Amino acid sequence: MTHTTAQPGRPSRAATARPTVILTGVQPTGDLHLGNYIGAIRPLADLAVDLTRDVYVFVADLHALNSRPDPAVLRERSRRLVAALLACGLDRPNVHVYRQSRVPQVAGMAALLSNVAAKGLLNRAHAYKAAVAANVAAGRDPDHGVNMGLYSYPVLMAADILALDADEVPVGADQAQHLEIAVDLAQQFSRSYRSAVLREPRALIAQPTATLPGLDGRKMSKSYGNAISLMAEPDDMRKQIRRIVTDSTPPEHPKDPETCTLVALLRALADRGTVAAVEERYRTGGIGYGEVKARLADAIDAHVAPMRNRYQRLLTDPAELDARLGKGEQHACQRADRTLARTVVAMGL
Ligand code: ADP
Ligand code: TRP
Repeated sequence: MTHTTAQPGRPSRAATARPTVILTGVQPTGDLHLGNYIGAIRPLADLAVDLTRDVYVFVADLHALNSRPDPAVLRERSRRLVAALLACGLDRPNVHVYRQSRVPQVAGMAALLSNVAAKGLLNRAHAYKAAVAANVAAGRDPDHGVNMGLYSYPVLMAADILALDADEVPVGADQAQHLEIAVDLAQQFSRSYRSAVLREPRALIAQPTATLPGLDGRKMSKSYGNAISLMAEPDDMRKQIRRIVTDSTPPEHPKDPETCTLVALLRALADRGTVAAVEERYRTGGIGYGEVKARLADAIDAHVAPMRNRYQRLLTDPAELDARLGKGEQHACQRADRTLARTVVAMGL
């Protein structure tokens, strides 16, 4: 992660002597895959190991509504995402996992911020611009199929961040513009109301080198259908790994480890010794892709099996899952309540 959006003038942590608040959200749009785990969840779990950090992780279920998912499907996806997050190293006392919709202060904050957000700013947001461009290219009305959930997505995202008074927000590079809008709205607010009630967040942007390739060598993504799902049963996982596309270099020939999807995945998930041994045999020749796939499957299974067991246990114990969520949601509500109360007063309500 690199720090990209510095906040000038903010007192150092030593001066404020309070925990650094880290926040991020994940949309419940499908099952987590290995790319999500390596690029987003594992770095977050690593940050949470430091108990001087207070970490808020939420399921962005309100955001997911703009694509109008089937209600039963959305509910189930949210439940599985909560279980997966808790199972992936985020079940810790300083991590608060919650559903965005269960913290109504966030929607309240979005309503307030919508008066600060210029329409022109939202016209320039990537997701909206992409929808308009697609409509124009197809000869349709520019706003065809665009609902206000999609259009004001950045305002709700700013509300997520500002209501929870977050210091740092780890996100993928595709979310950088949304973070800039959140900072912009916090600054606009301070200028309009001459008050510093909203804390300016700092974006922690994942480096592109952390991007994991999928089965076809492109970025692993739900939308490309090339993902290896994180919590797949071992047999299904092995089947998916056997489908990874490789070239036709025979086993005895040397190969370039830098351009091979199998090596990229091994580097992210296997121990150093395994990776070094495989890379060496790529360079000298004498290793076939079938063998590398088997090693990769073993490495992934060793890494994921404990998480998969926790995940399955949580899914079969709804009371336990609800108890964890209840705690996270109570904590998030209390924090957002304080920010909202300050904001409302600053605005004259
Ligand atoms: P998808 O492309 O599958 O829809 P999302 O956009 O929902 O994934 O991404 C959720 C998080 O996972 C983001 O922080 C994103 O940067 C990270 N992420 C997604 N795909 C990858 C990948 N292939 N490698 C590394 N990180 C990824
Ligand atoms: N828009 C983010 C994504 O699609 C998810 C998200 C919603 C988020 N609200 C957030 C991320 C607040 C960080 C902070 O990945």
